[in-house]
Amino acid sequence: MCGIVGAFLRGKPCLAALVRGLRVLEYRGYDSVGVGVLQAGELVVRRKAGRIEELERLLAADAGALDEVSVGIGHSRWATHGPPTDENAHPHCDWRGRIALVHNGIIENYQELRAELALRKIPLRSQTDTEVLAHWIGIELEGAGGDLAEAVRRALLRVRGYYAIAVLSGGERPQMVASREGPPLCLASTPEGAWLASDPLALIEHARDIVFLEDGDVAELAPGKLVVRGRDGALVARESVHVAWNAEAADRGGFAHFMLKEIHEQPDVVARGLFGRVDLERGDVTLPGEFFSDASLKQVTRVQISACGTALHAGLVARYLIEGLAGVPVDVDFASEFRYRQPVLVPGTLALGISQSGETADTLAALRLARSLGCRQLSFCNAVGSTMVRESEATLLLEAGPEIGVASTKAFVAMLVAATLFAVRLGRARARLTRAAASELLGELGRMRMNLERLLTREVVDKIRALAERHKDARGFLFLARGINYPIALEGALKLKEISYKHAEGYAAGEMKHGPIAMIDRDMTTVVIASRDSVASKVRSNIEQIRARGGPVICVGDDEESLAVSDERVVVPGLSPWLSPIANVVPLQLFAYHVALARGCDIDKPRNLAKSVTVE
Ligand code: G6P
Repeated sequence: MCGIVGAFLRGKPCLAALVRGLRVLEYRGYDSVGVGVLQAGELVVRRKAGRIEELERLLAADAGALDEVSVGIGHSRWATHGPPTDENAHPHCDWRGRIALVHNGIIENYQELRAELALRKIPLRSQTDTEVLAHWIGIELEGAGGDLAEAVRRALLRVRGYYAIAVLSGGERPQMVASREGPPLCLASTPEGAWLASDPLALIEHARDIVFLEDGDVAELAPGKLVVRGRDGALVARESVHVAWNAEAADRGGFAHFMLKEIHEQPDVVARGLFGRVDLERGDVTLPGEFFSDASLKQVTRVQISACGTALHAGLVARYLIEGLAGVPVDVDFASEFRYRQPVLVPGTLALGISQSGETADTLAALRLARSLGCRQLSFCNAVGSTMVRESEATLLLEAGPEIGVASTKAFVAMLVAATLFAVRLGRARARLTRAAASELLGELGRMRMNLERLLTREVVDKIRALAERHKDARGFLFLARGINYPIALEGALKLKEISYKHAEGYAAGEMKHGPIAMIDRDMTTVVIASRDSVASKVRSNIEQIRARGGPVICVGDDEESLAVSDERVVVPGLSPWLSPIANVVPLQLFAYHVALARGCDIDKPRNLAKSVTVE
């Protein structure tokens, strides 16, 4: 999740404001940092791998030469494409140095555009997808009669992907242009100046009336000017919103809590997790390194998963995926249990650690134990420089961006994506999964971003909020599901108890009659996850049994008959059962959030919990 900023001031220096804005956005990534400014109509770029201090050192070396510049853009990077080097740092310029671009997001068809640039003999200087777009805007500048806004609009018609960008052009008529498709971008313009940033927090020192761009918008900004056009070039009106937040609230990007912000980031998180890793043509997953090669994966006889909390639930889903798609037996253990029993690990066992932070003490200990017993180790991890990544033989990075909410949401979804990718690679390496089957599954995974967006519309969120308000005083909650969604029942219950302090229990639906059914009465709410899979009719019977005993049932899923026989329902888009957990968990996260909200709980700082448990 990169951060971008821009400032176009009326005759006042802008560099200090750009650097301050970047500091505010540093939470979005800190692999490299850079600015592009206009000095007497000429573009000047300063960029460097590392943190903001590196940029400050670079600017200090200019000995004040740029102190008077009044127009510029800036970027702090969370590397996706190309390592965090100086060459890959933003801004990127077109080959003639007429425009500079900063970008947050991913240009999915950059290979295709890159090939066209090669035909035009335009040299590339970095490994980024961003540079490709910079050249493309440069090309379109001709046809657009030198108008940057039009050139950006035309160039973006060629782009598939998601992005928030800011572009600067010099010459006699300097222009600053911004556009968005996916990641956030907000703008403000007053007679003194115009500003843009990925997060309103970086704007509120300058202006409080802020315009939030919508997907497809292309905006041109200057002091006292803010013109927004749609994809078709027609003018669109975007009302500003008065932002009265304090600095702490603004940090959450307009959301009331980090947890809610992170729930809403999940469509992007899925897209990022897939970027550059899916080959639909070959029906396979591309993961770098010898570890993921056919020869290496053929040697895996068993997978031993260790994790804690939400990551453990992702591990339980991974078991269904790995066994089902790759035919390799899997054990899943709480890391805290695994490390203290005397596990018997057959030769060829692969130890898989799953962790958002990569610093959870028990998970690290479990992986170390497995290593001492001769296992190879793989981790699914979100924190690039963490101990787990450093110590594991191989890592599949989650690419979820910094997760701040203590109740994990987007990292969980990213873990499910990683598990699916790994299961497909393993299944293909072992010739268990056909090319066609893998291609179909990966294609559907590619559409997951869109499906998650459908679950995060205001309509769905309002509906879940109302449900939560009706059920918030229930004596307790039971979450039931079967098969690959059973771990989602566990996760739904965990989310609810973590942040609302209501007692909630996740159970395998088939086990209901062996105990939990005794708890059922009208004060006990049951949430049933009902996917259209081979056990759907059995889950439906559970719903009938609960209702026959007067217990209210909320059904979440795509099984129409189950939805129809329940008291209340949240319809989830129809998906392959393998992928259904990724979508089914989203309404449960929102339900937990709204129960906690209605009960007045401190959602981002639940009592007694910590984001990363680095002690036993
Ligand atoms: C803590 C957090 C949980 C998290 C668990 C594992 O308990 O509160 O949200 O799931 O640690 O953390 P990890 O960083 O290893 O995924």
